[in-house]
Amino acid sequence: MIHTKWRHKDLLDTDDLAPDEVTLLLDTAREFQEINTRPVKKVPTLRGKGVVLFFAENSTRTKTSFDVAGKRLSADTFALSKSGSSIAKGESLKDTALTLQAMAPDIIVIRHSSSGAARFLADRLSCSVVNAGDGWHAHPTQALLDAYTLREYWQGDMGGKSLLIVGDITHSRVARSNIHLLNLLGLSVRVHGPRTLLPLDIHNWPVAVYSNLDEAVAGVDAVMCLRLQLERQQAGLLPDLAEYATFFCVTKRHMAMAAPGAPLLHPGPINRGLEIASDLADAPESRILDQVTAGVALRMAVLFTLGMRNEP
Ligand code: CP
Repeated sequence: MIHTKWRHKDLLDTDDLAPDEVTLLLDTAREFQEINTRPVKKVPTLRGKGVVLFFAENSTRTKTSFDVAGKRLSADTFALSKSGSSIAKGESLKDTALTLQAMAPDIIVIRHSSSGAARFLADRLSCSVVNAGDGWHAHPTQALLDAYTLREYWQGDMGGKSLLIVGDITHSRVARSNIHLLNLLGLSVRVHGPRTLLPLDIHNWPVAVYSNLDEAVAGVDAVMCLRLQLERQQAGLLPDLAEYATFFCVTKRHMAMAAPGAPLLHPGPINRGLEIASDLADAPESRILDQVTAGVALRMAVLFTLGMRNEP
């Protein structure tokens, strides 16, 4: 099944994927989710395979869930971070990656602050590379787990639905990967955010741009808040956090204007009271922890699909 539908050495972004490849990953994740509910959450599927977790940027959800995913499939996982490694002594990205590859892993999962870092490695390494977030560019496993969460919530009925993304679109790899993927799956995407945090060419993107949150959220089928990257305030792109919250913080009042039962997503980590009201984060319409749960199953599917791609 893998051979007929999966056509890549790597997973670098959602715009590399065809609809049947997305379906393959989401269906495989659904099968693996059952393992995550068993008393003994481990199968021998990837025994003998090596997975390096190369995180040159901070992470809780992505790094931990790739580690859990690999271990539940019996792969050997090895973690390397920026601090405590020879990157801190000035070793280059290329030399670090070649050094890791010399230890014969099957898959390297990389997070890096530079857009394009994952593709740079994929072009130079024979093992599979998974992009776990590169700069502003892409975060494909986040978008895939978001699609999985929505597909489960809507019981498979994705086509024709709408989703609103609220926040800093310019600097968001989550927004970019989601916009590609959700369009591929037949959803229409709305966006809303401060003018200073919308890409200059946003009107060429396959999205509808709104200038008012009440109008943006009206009747929408799902809402996704983005983390406000507080470092943007130092760059002069956000004059005042309280003013940001006044205009862009999604609250229960906003969710009441969306379609009945509309779920609220957020990739995390969340800033309570800034981009999402604290009581909304804990409310039934919040699917934030479902997204985390989905992340393990989805990353099991990614490791399995790449790890088994050369198997007979
Ligand atoms: N959503 C996400 O990438 O979270 P982490 O930075 O904690 O991995």
